[in-house]
Amino acid sequence: MSPAQGGAARKRSLWGTRFGFYLAAIGSAFGLGNLWRFPYVAAENGGGAFVLLYTLCAALIGLPLLIGELMLGKLTRKSAIGAMKTVAYEPGIADGAKPWRGKRDWPRHGWVWLGRLAVFASLLVLSYYAVISGWVLHFFMQFLMAPLQESGFDAERSLKILRDNGLLQVALTSVHLLVVIVVVVKGVQQGIEKWVGNLMPVFVVLLGVLVMKSLSSPTATEALRFLFYPDFSKLTLSSPIHALGHVFFTLSIGFGTMITFGSYLNENTHIPSAGFRVTAMDTLISLFAGLLIFPLVIGAPFAAMGPEVLFQSLPRLLEASESGFVFGIAFFLCLYLASLGASIGLLESIVSNWLDDRLFTRRAAAWVSGAGAFLFAMAPALSTTAFRDVHYEGRGVLEIVDAALINGLLPVIALGFSLAVARRLKHELKRVEFVNDDSLTTIRMYGHWTATMAWLAPLLILSAMLLGLIGLFV
Ligand code: ALA
Repeated sequence: MSPAQGGAARKRSLWGTRFGFYLAAIGSAFGLGNLWRFPYVAAENGGGAFVLLYTLCAALIGLPLLIGELMLGKLTRKSAIGAMKTVAYEPGIADGAKPWRGKRDWPRHGWVWLGRLAVFASLLVLSYYAVISGWVLHFFMQFLMAPLQESGFDAERSLKILRDNGLLQVALTSVHLLVVIVVVVKGVQQGIEKWVGNLMPVFVVLLGVLVMKSLSSPTATEALRFLFYPDFSKLTLSSPIHALGHVFFTLSIGFGTMITFGSYLNENTHIPSAGFRVTAMDTLISLFAGLLIFPLVIGAPFAAMGPEVLFQSLPRLLEASESGFVFGIAFFLCLYLASLGASIGLLESIVSNWLDDRLFTRRAAAWVSGAGAFLFAMAPALSTTAFRDVHYEGRGVLEIVDAALINGLLPVIALGFSLAVARRLKHELKRVEFVNDDSLTTIRMYGHWTATMAWLAPLLILSAMLLGLIGLFV
């Protein structure tokens, strides 16, 4: 059996409903990227101008690439590795593909390696994601247990417990991964749709209440100015790659999740509309997260902005406020549910590759991949204890992993996927998926989209990476 045909006989589960797909895709996109990472990256890059850059990158590069990844999945009905095998070896789907002749055919086989790299990136993202999810779990429990403690909730003590106890971080990471594995073992329909479907209304209600509360604080005007008034002098050479990397991370682009989600799409789903809704919703949630978090952290020293800032400043402010304890439980519960949804999408996208190749059962694939993620999570989990002396320009292990992954690896893979869609997938197939009932708008948009995938996205990604590299040395 050729790699391109591997697992073709396996019946692929499709989303039960179109709504089920949106819930799961938005649940996978919406996560720590929006609530934990966006505020600190936006603050590190100066606020308003970066927010504008990020929004532009989401619309101009993120959306077209998301459509491309969903299309790769839907046309090949495979996850990242299988989709790339099809791109290399399936002449019916890809231009310039040659049928598998029993031997690797370089450079064509390079596409397969791109798929493998994407799965590896998912594993790395999941592992470091699990560590931060563990922090969230810790703060949720600290707020929950506050009424049982004589001194109530103590923000500084809570963070110190976490920072000083590597074993606790490892334990919390493993609890999170266990929950994710159990959900994924249940399968696409029963697992993801049900879980994420049940979580979404909870997100919306909790976030709405929290944003209203947050915007009533006295620092709201200053926060709005910081978030929306663009001061371009605050941008640095690294800002474009930080914005692009964050767009990829938050939209789950470049690690194959959206290829997997696309492979589960029903035949009649219009991909550009699906991609647009997911991008718009995710970007709005990030801005919403900014509205929620900045009024609360605006008093904190921005110079200290880093991965811990949310956990440093928010609980402190909550501790000082009258209803902070309820606010804290609600916020960290909301954040944990969001990170769970995204982690489920990450593990599902790894597992589905094993299933495409029929190497493992779903159960075995989920346990083996979860164990792999656990091993990779050790370094970031121990970054404030065993590896506290490992630094690069003031950044610890967790930040180094974050930067290498999000500003380095994801853009490279996204660039490869962009070229795979633009230069390999057959024009007629893409057009059928993109153009809706021959409507004039979608015909015109199709031209813009193909040009973006072939030229604009690769050029902008390359330029941003180059500027980021120069920024490292000047
Ligand atoms: N897209 C996921 C997030 O933003 C990984 O958290």
